[in-house]
Amino acid sequence: MSDFPTLRLASPLPPIMHGTLGEFVDDPIHVMRQMWASHGEVAALQDDNHRIHFVFGPQYNHEVLGDTRKFHAQFFAVRGPRKSAQRRVTSGLLSMNGDQHREHRRTVQAPFQKKAVQAYHDQVIGVTQDQLASWNPGETKDIAEEMTHYMLRLTSSLLFGMDIPEMAYEVGRLTERWVDLNHQVGPAVFSADPALLANYEELLQAADELEQAVLEMVRMRRGGQLGMDVLSLLIRAHDMQGGVSDEQLVGHIVLLFGAAHLTSAHTLTWTLFLLAQHPGVMSQLHAEFQEKLDGQAPTAEQVDQLPFLDAVLRESMRVLPASAYSIRVAAETCELGPFKLNPGNPVIFSQFITHHMPHLFPQPEKFLPDRWGAISPSPYAYLPFGAGARMCIGAALAMMQFKISLPTMLGKFKLSMAPEAEVRARVMSTMLYPASSVPMRIERQDGHFTSQPVSGNIHTLVDLPPSTVAIRRAA
Ligand code: HEM
Repeated sequence: MSDFPTLRLASPLPPIMHGTLGEFVDDPIHVMRQMWASHGEVAALQDDNHRIHFVFGPQYNHEVLGDTRKFHAQFFAVRGPRKSAQRRVTSGLLSMNGDQHREHRRTVQAPFQKKAVQAYHDQVIGVTQDQLASWNPGETKDIAEEMTHYMLRLTSSLLFGMDIPEMAYEVGRLTERWVDLNHQVGPAVFSADPALLANYEELLQAADELEQAVLEMVRMRRGGQLGMDVLSLLIRAHDMQGGVSDEQLVGHIVLLFGAAHLTSAHTLTWTLFLLAQHPGVMSQLHAEFQEKLDGQAPTAEQVDQLPFLDAVLRESMRVLPASAYSIRVAAETCELGPFKLNPGNPVIFSQFITHHMPHLFPQPEKFLPDRWGAISPSPYAYLPFGAGARMCIGAALAMMQFKISLPTMLGKFKLSMAPEAEVRARVMSTMLYPASSVPMRIERQDGHFTSQPVSGNIHTLVDLPPSTVAIRRAA
């Protein structure tokens, strides 16, 4: 398929591509594919005023992610004025480095350890069943919107507790709006487009409202009973260890919500979409659910006893990783391949490009869950949750959620794409979003699967098999 560059050309010239950084903001995957195809594993994109370095593949991912002294995280493009709410709500783990990062990470990750995560099992089932109560056989739903709403409810209830759902949901909603404004304003750092800066004041205002809402939540929890939600656990940990202000707690909570909600929603949407387009895989998964679960939601023990579901999720996060790339900045003068970096120079690593390298994953554009029976890539070759000292602290929670949501949804309902759907994807900030609706027809689960053809730029990211409906028509 000509859209997929699989060869990279040896070039005697310095691995620098000249272009505008705006082009990268508009279509990061296209630009990164071009850079990897023409320059290989380390390259730079240069315009009149800026240069960004890129690394692709396990060797350089390791070099950049494995050295937290040389390469710092600087996730939020817009930190806001020094004493602003924007500065405080962006002060979570992804803005910390060195000893401060290590100390705070130890506290923040405690509620997300594998053992702690098992305690959320019943809550995940409860929220999933609530969501499914509004699904009726025969209707068509935009699954991208459904999964975003579902994860908004689930994330707010896990982070803030079930006893104050309205307030928890409101914080979730305010976070969602604030994240969206960050996505709009962030690219202004790379671009001279004044339209992008137009939302700056709105972003500062949204940060202010979000901070107030989270502080109110913290006050309420402190004033009443602490529960088993993540916020209560963090308040307890902070109170016991001392020295962490409510403002810092706000930074952690906002980051946790922002990091958890949309990444999980998009992963679920992409997985349901890939399953709908691969009836053979869906059929295999259905057989596993029938054999192991008999139509019930998985128990806490069964969650880890579904090997084919595990392979489906791994493969979905390989082909369409919710985090398509991420950023570091050089913290000191250092070398990166042929480049000499100065402090502050940005470096991008990309899950998407690494996951699509044919020498690591043969036929990389195909969704082939069975490949996971035969491969065991290194943590720097397969990194949907990042790698190294900043690897996602929510990975175990996210996987547990998916391994409950998918069997619960697909045990009851059969999902297939609505006829003539156009499915588009787009990377905004660092995330691979569904940029269109993903309309799916909902039917009672009967174990018979076919697929519908779809149009849209999704075909430039994943090589979908011919739809079974089309095959039948042609026959
Ligand atoms: C499918 C779902 C998820 C994906 C794909 C994902 C992806 C990632 C990635 C790639 C990173 C590393 C970023 C970097 O190195 O620059 C990261 C970090 C992080 N994630 Fe997740 N994440 C997911 C779910 C969650 C959940 C459920 C939570 C928490 C409730 C969470 C909290 C965090 C935090 C706090 C960090 C920063 C860690 C640090 O800097 O030490 N994520 N995530």
